Amino acid sequence: MIKVSVPATSANLGPGFDCLGIALTLYNEITAEIIDEGLEIEVYGEGKEDIELDEQNLVYRAIKRVYDQVGKSVPGLRIKLINKVPLCSGLGSSAASTVGGLLVGNFFSGELLSTDMILELAKEMEGHPDNVVPALLGGFIVTSTTEKGIKYVRHLPKKDLYFYLVVPEYRFATGRSRGLLPENVDFKDATFNIGRSSLLVAAIMAEKYELLEWATEDKIHQIYRQEQLPGFVECVKKAKDNGALGVFLSGAGPSILALTDKPMPRIKKVLKESYDEKEIKSRVLELQLSKRGALLTNEEGVELCQW
Ligand code: HSE
Repeated sequence: MIKVSVPATSANLGPGFDCLGIALTLYNEITAEIIDEGLEIEVYGEGKEDIELDEQNLVYRAIKRVYDQVGKSVPGLRIKLINKVPLCSGLGSSAASTVGGLLVGNFFSGELLSTDMILELAKEMEGHPDNVVPALLGGFIVTSTTEKGIKYVRHLPKKDLYFYLVVPEYRFATGRSRGLLPENVDFKDATFNIGRSSLLVAAIMAEKYELLEWATEDKIHQIYRQEQLPGFVECVKKAKDNGALGVFLSGAGPSILALTDKPMPRIKKVLKESYDEKEIKSRVLELQLSKRGALLTNEEGVELCQW
């Protein structure tokens, strides 16, 4: 029996559409063992009522993807999912399931895949790399897809950042959120985002967090998504007015991430109040950057592999 723990992730960080992401200190756990035959899936925690318990299950599909890749057939499996990452919230729950499933599949099928190959399969299943790379590798990730595969840099800032996330009760699937985006963007907006995204990478690398106020601004995706996100505009404004350094949609939303360079309990309160005022149920998570990515252990908790 093996256990895989995979972190939640937040993609884009404002301007870095499809290329920036971070791992967060909230983890989904998958326990898997090979059985004589069949498929048994149990789910605990987030998404318990909605997650498929058959071959449509995302973790199972990722396991199968590895077996197909290496030309073997999937054995009987017993899988237990302990989910802490809210579903369809912009916190990388599908990336965590995909990466977790690929790691289970790779371990059971003989560990034939390299890290880069696992990332390619994860990106193929997810469609974009900005959640799956931090889910596997942890830290702050800059990534881009090239004709020779996914390229990335991982960075672990020494100076702490604090991540306050408000998760409204309503869900917003990534596919729907991406469907709101235009075919083309204005040249000026593209230039704006290149500048902000570059500044953001430099600000995080150089730990010049005072630049985050500008470095997290974006003109190419949130503006098209916000119409469909009740409470978003007001919540961003309130959190900024109350001292957050950067406030933006986490991934494709609907969660909002407020970034600070010191603990600020006031931000937690403001985020919650902002949705309460709109009579939208929400919860606030106070997280930090996860320096580790996925972790594979055996039954006794002995580490088998960490990325
Ligand atoms: N970059 C993706 C998007 C992230 O914004 O659609 C999805 O989590």
